[in-house]
Amino acid sequence: MSPDCFSSHPPRVPCKSLSPEEAEHFLTHGWLKVSNAIKPEYIDAWMADFWVRTGYDEHDKTTWKDEYLHLPHHRQVRHDELCPEAWNKISDVCGGEERIHLERERWIGDNFIVNFGSEARSQSLIDSSPKEKAGWHCDNDWYRQFLDSTGTAMTIVHCFTDIPARGGGTWLCEDGIARVVQQLYDHPEGFDPGLNTGDICDGIMGCEEFVPVVAKKGDVFIMHGLLPHVAGFNYLHYARVITNPHVTLRDPYDLNRPDGEYSLLEQVILRGLERSSVPEYKPPRERMYWYPRNWTFKEAKIRAELDAMIAVAKAKGLDETAVDSVWLQGEQAREDFDRRNGMLLPVHEATGFQPVQHKL
Ligand SMILES: [Fe+2]
Repeated sequence: MSPDCFSSHPPRVPCKSLSPEEAEHFLTHGWLKVSNAIKPEYIDAWMADFWVRTGYDEHDKTTWKDEYLHLPHHRQVRHDELCPEAWNKISDVCGGEERIHLERERWIGDNFIVNFGSEARSQSLIDSSPKEKAGWHCDNDWYRQFLDSTGTAMTIVHCFTDIPARGGGTWLCEDGIARVVQQLYDHPEGFDPGLNTGDICDGIMGCEEFVPVVAKKGDVFIMHGLLPHVAGFNYLHYARVITNPHVTLRDPYDLNRPDGEYSLLEQVILRGLERSSVPEYKPPRERMYWYPRNWTFKEAKIRAELDAMIAVAKAKGLDETAVDSVWLQGEQAREDFDRRNGMLLPVHEATGFQPVQHKL
């Protein structure tokens, strides 16, 4: 226990796992890397049928049809079981594990996001500037985003492969946080997913502090939920594999704590606004939460993946009971999955479903 670990304004709160340097790094940059944090047995088990699920040949890049793939889950474990050390640091950043939502994305899994690059990309002589990249965003596509919203309090990147420089690591815009929180302060009415949520990242062109995710297999990146980010191009033509779960809190942020005991997440917001508290802030509209509309295109891939996994089992003389997938584990498993991932929430009438995966 290091009561001095949050070193600066506003006042400190105790933490169990973060070093003072790590706390300061998160406050200053909006993110933190925890090296070698994922238990190797999960990487090995989940990556074992990665190529089977994609339908691509690992050794024949001409079969890598799509540059960018989002896959559905088959396995899920508790976040704290997958990467205990990273989870402890996540809890510290939130101001204590008790603040974290008890269900939403507490189980995380093998819903891989794969960036293969391409032959053409690998021949490129010039890397594109992150500043000019389209699609800067925060992961807030299932709730009305207010300044104090904690639907996605943190965006996490779990690295299932190495990610070298120029290898398709996510770009982070560190000085974008201040612009985002100012946008949210200036628009207390909030932003709705698919309608105007992209607007909170307006102004990235005016930012200067861009950092790519560069990692070793097993590393975990912990990012503030209001840190703008965008997928990077993979110029190395290999399979970069990550997952991108989130941390949801039970309650909205409190930006007016009389005792000054702000979490690191709250401190980042206050720093961005150059305030020590925001007592006047109160959302004027109802808080709203919706079905995750981009689940639609991932769900559509489940049957083909299952068929491929079952075919491999049968080729080994096994049957489908040998396939480890939530989709083969009965009604209760499906209900648990739906509850943990927001599938019971109402569909946003204006934006509906996202039937086709977005491109890079
Ligand atoms: Fe994202």
